[in-house]
Amino acid sequence: MWGPCALYSKVQCNENGGKKMSAKTILTTHRDVDFDPETFISTYYSSVAGHEEDGDLIKFFLDGLSDAFKSGTIVGAQILDIGTGPIPHTAFCAAPWFEEITLSDFSQKNLDFLQKWKNGEINHMDPILNYLVQVDKSSSTVEKRQDELKRKIKNIVKCDVTQPNPVVSTPVDGVVFDAITSSLCLESASVTLDDYEKSVQNLSGLLKPGGHLVLVGVLEETFYRVGDFRFKCAYIRKDQLQDIWEKEGFEILSLKDFNDTCSSHKAGNDFSDFQNAFVMVAKKREY
Ligand SMILES: C[S@@+](CC[C@H](N)C(=O)[O-])C[C@H]1O[C@@H](n2cnc3c(N)ncnc32)[C@H](O)[C@@H]1O
Repeated sequence: MWGPCALYSKVQCNENGGKKMSAKTILTTHRDVDFDPETFISTYYSSVAGHEEDGDLIKFFLDGLSDAFKSGTIVGAQILDIGTGPIPHTAFCAAPWFEEITLSDFSQKNLDFLQKWKNGEINHMDPILNYLVQVDKSSSTVEKRQDELKRKIKNIVKCDVTQPNPVVSTPVDGVVFDAITSSLCLESASVTLDDYEKSVQNLSGLLKPGGHLVLVGVLEETFYRVGDFRFKCAYIRKDQLQDIWEKEGFEILSLKDFNDTCSSHKAGNDFSDFQNAFVMVAKKREY
């Protein structure tokens, strides 16, 4: 699964499974290195087209998130987004349906970036939000929806999904949420499938029985790159993903598959080696 470079965390290397990388990169984990939020945004979210070698990946994610929420069946008082990074687009889709939103991430750099955005010091999401308002067929404007999102975000807190109690910051410590969203976090917070399953258990402890999960992720990926860093990811196949969530007490309501709708990405490039991607809606069983 891993090339020779994987043996050496934080070791400079220039190979990826025999394919030459265009620049020297350092293989690491989120536990060791925080990515630069601006580099992450400019690499993956500067437009709906996303990264040039990923095909319509960002569009697929945005369409899936919009579809999950616009039916109005996922509603409640409190929602948590896990691993928000510097971009709260998942929360943007959820905001009309919830009273209070909590954003969370492992990286203080990302939490500071989100706080600056909430304070109006950064405006980095216009292309993504314009697209979401369009696909939501929203009668509202981007400005109004973004103001609503900012108003409903009550907490931006530290989270470590690998821990049994992932969010310990006051006032969120002990809260069990009506719904949880998470995009591209669980696989990058884990290195092994076992780590991934433990993170699923930890996440589940934060969700009410009967509560909804909207999960965005990639499949069969071992790394993704931000600037000079390649972040290790837990390699997970679609059947393993389904097995883990079902085993951990979730009913999968829908699972959209990127390769079923788009096939234009170049599987395996300098920036990531994902083979497929998904948007999943699931419900935590009540028993
Ligand atoms: C690929 S980025 C995804 C960011 C954003 N949600 C998106 O969809 O683009 C992965 C995010 O997970 C966060 N992360 C990594 N390990 C984590 C952990 N143990 N607990 C919570 N968040 C973590 C990283 O800091 C990073 O912001």
